[in-house]
Amino acid sequence: MNFKMLRIFFLAAPFLIYSAFRTMISIFMISDYTMVKFTAVFSVLVIISLIVFQLRMKDKNYFSFAVSGALLFFTSVIFYADQGILKNSVSDAGLSAFIFSRPESVLYVSLLLMALIPPLFGRNPFTYYFAKEIVPEMFWETRLFRVVNIVISYFWAIIFALSLGSQFSNNAVFAHIVPVVLQLLVGVPATKFLIPFLQIKLAFVERGAPRDFLHSAEQALIGMPYVFDKKAAGDLKIVIQFFITGGESIEGYLEIGDGNCSYHNGVHPVPSMTMKSPADIYLKIARNEISGTDAFFRKLIVIEGDFSIALKMEQLFGAGGPQVESDKKAKRNREQKKKIDSDHILIPKNYYSMQPGEVRKVLLIQASPRKAGVSKTDILAQAFLEGCRSAGAETETVHLADKNINSCIGCYTCWTKTPGQCIYNDDAAEIMKKEDEADLVVYASPLYIFGIVSSLKQYFDRRIPRLEPFLVTGESGMTSHPTRAGYKKSKNVAVLGVCGFPEVSHFDSVSAYFHHVSNTAGDNSFNIVAEIYRPASEILNNGFYGNETGRILELAGVAGEQIVRSGTIEKSVIDGIAEVRVDTDVFRDQANKTWELCINEGLTLSQVQERFSGNAGEK
Ligand SMILES: Cc1cc2nc3c(=O)[nH]c(=O)nc-3n(C[C@H](O)[C@H](O)[C@H](O)COP(=O)(O)O)c2cc1C
Repeated sequence: MNFKMLRIFFLAAPFLIYSAFRTMISIFMISDYTMVKFTAVFSVLVIISLIVFQLRMKDKNYFSFAVSGALLFFTSVIFYADQGILKNSVSDAGLSAFIFSRPESVLYVSLLLMALIPPLFGRNPFTYYFAKEIVPEMFWETRLFRVVNIVISYFWAIIFALSLGSQFSNNAVFAHIVPVVLQLLVGVPATKFLIPFLQIKLAFVERGAPRDFLHSAEQALIGMPYVFDKKAAGDLKIVIQFFITGGESIEGYLEIGDGNCSYHNGVHPVPSMTMKSPADIYLKIARNEISGTDAFFRKLIVIEGDFSIALKMEQLFGAGGPQVESDKKAKRNREQKKKIDSDHILIPKNYYSMQPGEVRKVLLIQASPRKAGVSKTDILAQAFLEGCRSAGAETETVHLADKNINSCIGCYTCWTKTPGQCIYNDDAAEIMKKEDEADLVVYASPLYIFGIVSSLKQYFDRRIPRLEPFLVTGESGMTSHPTRAGYKKSKNVAVLGVCGFPEVSHFDSVSAYFHHVSNTAGDNSFNIVAEIYRPASEILNNGFYGNETGRILELAGVAGEQIVRSGTIEKSVIDGIAEVRVDTDVFRDQANKTWELCINEGLTLSQVQERFSGNAGEK
């Protein structure tokens, strides 16, 4: 039997036997004194097993003492009672009688005090006893280790308090079974769940905190499985090989798969990625003194193989890369951005509400000149369409870059010589027809010099054949052109934009433009249903910000689903998409490093993107 099994045996067996035995006694109504003698024998067995157990444990802490002390107290009471010394008090209906009928209550009081008192007075929680068996010594002094143990200790205090409470029941079977159920079926599985849950929560909050408890590269490597974020790994199956040189010479690899991470000495035959680093540099990365990205850009470390894994290291191990903001910093940044944004509101925004079920056909006019999969506009817009489809709508994408659309030359032939007919016979007419057939048109564009891209504007300009040349007073009271007979007066439009800078207020002029058109442009006018803007859009295909990307795209899907189901998108969803949770200083810094890399290495952005398998910082 290995030590882990032995530990479980010593921990669980006495309690199980003890409770089963006590239950039997209650059922078969064995006399009080026979019962207490048997109970005493088992108590002694529990003490012996705990002493053996204690000898094997690293932390000489309260646990064994608490259990042994309680049982010792109880056996001595029985012993003296048997000698007739306490007989009188036993017959009383007082505390002694209660102890005799429910001897475990002494044990649970003792366990409750053991779990509750030490952390309340700033002492080490009893769970150190178990935790030190499985967590390497270098983590024992960390805040993470302490907080996780304190929470688990309080959790067990509740379990022991409930176990104690059950002893007051008149039903003996209930009183003996409830603690077993609470401890073995609730306490043990819940602890197994709570430990990694708390570790991840805390590791997330503490990302970027110095890890000065690490003193060697080897220690840092061996410790990596303990800071591994299972959730961030998802179904990732990879091997990361390390070659550490200089002060320490280490060959070892991390194996990640099925949500687990393990460290092994040696060289893996087919690693997914290899990191070569001098020991002092690796230690600095692990201690959060320099970021892994920095080290790479400054050529202090060498990465070979699947580079995208290097970008995920921060998420997987919480060290050495850009960090998602702490809650406090995020709040401060949000307030600051809100102020910037409220200072920038140019025009009041009215949104048109469609009827639930009105949207059956959605047309996306995607104006980024970049290819699908690379274009952030397209990535966000496709997530939105996916949501529309999941709610039952039909969708179609027109990529303007694939279309032949001439620039309007302002000849007004379409208003004079051939009314309604443009001099060009290109793809513009076909797109307009598709728009007429759609229930919702999504105009999607990246921000180019604080406006929409020229191809979209060029397309909009080609819509004037659908207007009459005459000047009339429009609904808003301003001058406009009437719609030519046979054309739809207005259509339902959603505007979707992405931009490189991290403030949403950069979209002000785009928003103002669309709202102005909506109020004054006859056939070209829009019923604006929603505006979806995403600043700092570079994170949408950048491996550094995996979690954030997932959050934003999920919300874009929700937006698509909502517009089809209810005809409108909740403000919280729009705000969630626009919210920049990434530390803006780190974001700017990383973007600048990407540009530096391009310039220094003579690479285009797309070449660097290929290496990163993501766009790490184009404006
Ligand atoms: C010509 C040009 C002008 C740009 N102007 C701005 C700008 O004014 N503000 C901004 O935040 N980003 C600007 N950007 C950055 C893009 O909006 C950003 O990279 C966006 O993510 C590109 O989207 P796409 O990948 O869908 O093409 C500009 C990019 C280019 C190429």
